[in-house]
Amino acid sequence: MSDAPRPAPADVDAYINAQLVGADPVLDAALARAAAAGLPAHDVAPNQGKLLHLLARIRGARAILELGTLAGYSTIWLARALPSGGRLITLEAEPSYAEVARANLSAAGLADRAEVRVGEALPALAALEAEGAGPFDLVFLDADKQRNPEYLEWSLRLTRPGSVIVADNVVREGELANAASEDPRVRGIRRFTELLGATPGVSATAIQTVGQKGWDGLALALVDEPGAVGSR
Ligand SMILES: C[S@@+](CC[C@H](N)C(=O)[O-])C[C@H]1O[C@@H](n2cnc3c(N)ncnc32)[C@H](O)[C@@H]1O
Repeated sequence: MSDAPRPAPADVDAYINAQLVGADPVLDAALARAAAAGLPAHDVAPNQGKLLHLLARIRGARAILELGTLAGYSTIWLARALPSGGRLITLEAEPSYAEVARANLSAAGLADRAEVRVGEALPALAALEAEGAGPFDLVFLDADKQRNPEYLEWSLRLTRPGSVIVADNVVREGELANAASEDPRVRGIRRFTELLGATPGVSATAIQTVGQKGWDGLALALVDEPGAVGSR
């Protein structure tokens, strides 16, 4: 038997990223700009970004809504999936983060299709409804997790049958299964998960992930067509 250390989850991410994601100077520059501006490194991993991109393409998304922009790393992945004439709106509470995201989207050549809106997500969602901005084909929830239950309700108002809702960081090192947790983010993702399971006309699952971002996971929901097989 070899004495070589067993690969760790981060090694697997590195392998997957090398084989299936590839080098991307635009995304690397986006992360470098974020680091130089002192933003926290809470962006999705490259293979997760590509998963979001593929989901948007599989769905044929023409309108995408993101909650939680940070430096626009996941935004770039999602906006690149849009066809000509497609549109993405991303919501970010922190003005200085939004500024970095705008610079990143501009450098990625996506400023014409990706709009960064600064402010708290809840009022921004109400404004989107008031202006008739939806329906969105894909919603990515990646802001303050304690508000995920409200964000789910808004997502359902702003989507249509066939739309996809993705939520990041829903496992939190296993805390999802901890009913006694007093962490508001854990309570938020538990309530979100329970609401997802109890909402008629939505089919959902959640998957645990390990990798360079540690032990976490994502939830995936499909807004069913009326009467769809498998609809809850
Ligand atoms: C995990 S980061 C987003 C990462 C980004 N989606 C990516 O993968 O590149 C979460 C972001 O949500 C923002 N945020 C937190 N609470 C918010 C709120 N109530 N409304 C809007 N944005 C919020 C934070 O400022 C932060 O930039």
